[in-house]
Amino acid sequence: MYTNIVRCRACGFGTPENPGGIKSGQPTDKLIPVLDLGLHPLANNFVKEGEPRAGFAPLQLLFCPQCSLAQLSVVVDPVQIYEKYAYVTSPSATMREHFGSLVRDIKTESKNGSVVEIGSNDGLLLAFLADAGYGNVVGIDPAKNLAEKARKSGVVVINDFFNEGSARSALLASGEVDTVIARHVFCHVADWRGFVKGLEILASKDTVVCIEIPCVTDQLEACSFDQVYHEHLSYMPIKAMKALLNRTLFHLHRVIHYPVHGGAHLVMLRRNDCVMPPHPSVQETLESENVTLERWQAFAYEAKLRIVRLRDRVRSLRDMGKRVCGYGASAKSTVWINACGFTKEDIYGVYDGTMEKQYCTIPGTNIPVIHEGAFYADAADYAICFAWNYFAECKAKQHKWLETGGRWIVPVPEVRVIGLDTAESQA
Ligand code: TMP
Repeated sequence: MYTNIVRCRACGFGTPENPGGIKSGQPTDKLIPVLDLGLHPLANNFVKEGEPRAGFAPLQLLFCPQCSLAQLSVVVDPVQIYEKYAYVTSPSATMREHFGSLVRDIKTESKNGSVVEIGSNDGLLLAFLADAGYGNVVGIDPAKNLAEKARKSGVVVINDFFNEGSARSALLASGEVDTVIARHVFCHVADWRGFVKGLEILASKDTVVCIEIPCVTDQLEACSFDQVYHEHLSYMPIKAMKALLNRTLFHLHRVIHYPVHGGAHLVMLRRNDCVMPPHPSVQETLESENVTLERWQAFAYEAKLRIVRLRDRVRSLRDMGKRVCGYGASAKSTVWINACGFTKEDIYGVYDGTMEKQYCTIPGTNIPVIHEGAFYADAADYAICFAWNYFAECKAKQHKWLETGGRWIVPVPEVRVIGLDTAESQA
C-alpha cells in the first residue's frame, strides 16, 4: 500500500546508508523525523457501509536540513487515493472569490491563449477560465468520477495522472500552451522529476506555469497539523522549490500569497530562456520565510497539546449530556477525529453538503456523514467546524442555529468556542 521515503524529493539530500559510516561530530545525512501521528486511514476514503475500505498507513513528517522541505515518511500508492476521489473543489463563495483573484493575477502574466490545468478536479476553475476569455481549456485528472463530472460541463479532460504521456495529449488538445495551472496538486506528487519533465513538454519560452502550494509558514504559524495527511506528501518552502528547480529548465518568476485554505502561495515559473526578469516577490519571499527544524519541532509539540485539548473538551461536553457534531467532512476532519480517537459516542455525525460524502462514514471510524440540510433541525448543542478555512461562511449559513443557542468549536488556529452570547473562549 505504501513505500518508505529516505531522500529529499526537492534537493536529493539523505541516503539510506552512509557508505563511509558517520564519523563522530559529522552531521547525519538522514532526514529528521519531526511529527509522528501514528497510523491513520486515508483522509478522503469516504465509503458507504459494506464497501471496501483502504487500510491505514503511518503519518510521520521528515525534515530536510539542507533545503527545509518537510515530507511524509511514506508514499501511499496514488491509484488507491485518486482513482475514485471524494474531494470535490468546493463551489463555496470563499472559493469563487479565490478563483476570481487567481484568474486576475494570472492574467497579468499571460495572454488569453490555451490553458492546461493539472489536477482539474470537477472542472470548476476551467469553467472560470473559459468565462474569463481563455481560448482552449484542457484538464488532466486521474479521478474517473471527477473527469466525467467536468466533461459534463463541456470541458476537455484527459483522465490520467500528469506525466509525459498525458502532457503530450494535453498539448495536442490545446495547441501552444499559454498558461499551465496546477492548484494544490504539486505537493500531492511523489515524483517531482517526472512532473517537471511533463512541464517541459507543455511549456514554451513564453508559457507561465502557475503552481499553487500551501504556504508552509502559515501552516507552522497556525499549527494546522490537520493538513498533514497521506495526500499531502510535501510541505514546501520556496527555498525548497528553488532547490528543486536548480536542476531543471525552469526558474522562479513570481510568488503571490493568498489566504485560501489557511494560506497558499502561487508560485509562477518560467523557462530559463524567457527574457522577462524575475519579480521582486521571489527574493522577498526567500528572505522572509523562516522554516527551521526548531519550528517544526515546536509545531509537533503544539499539535499534540491541541489534540488533547479538543479530546478533553468534547469528552467533558459528552459527560454533561451535550450533543456534539462536526461540520464539514473535510480531510482535516478525518485527521482530527482519528488523532483524538473519537467515535460515534463522542461526535454523533459530521454534516456536509457534498453528495459524494453523504451516507458514508468518516474514514477509520463509525461516525456518519449527514446531509448538511438536516443540520438546523437536528439541533446539536455544539458543532466542531472542521471546515475552519470556511468558518465565516459556515457561521453565516447557520446563523439561525447560533441564535437558538448553538455553539461552534473552531479547532484552528486555536481550539475555541463561539456562541452568540459568549465572548470567544479558549478550550
Ligand atoms: P476542504 O476544506 O477540504 O475544502 O473541505 C471542506 C468540506 O466542508 C467539504 O467537504 C465541503 C464542506 N462544506 C460544507 O458542507 N458546507 C459549507 O458551507 C462549506 C463552506 C463547506
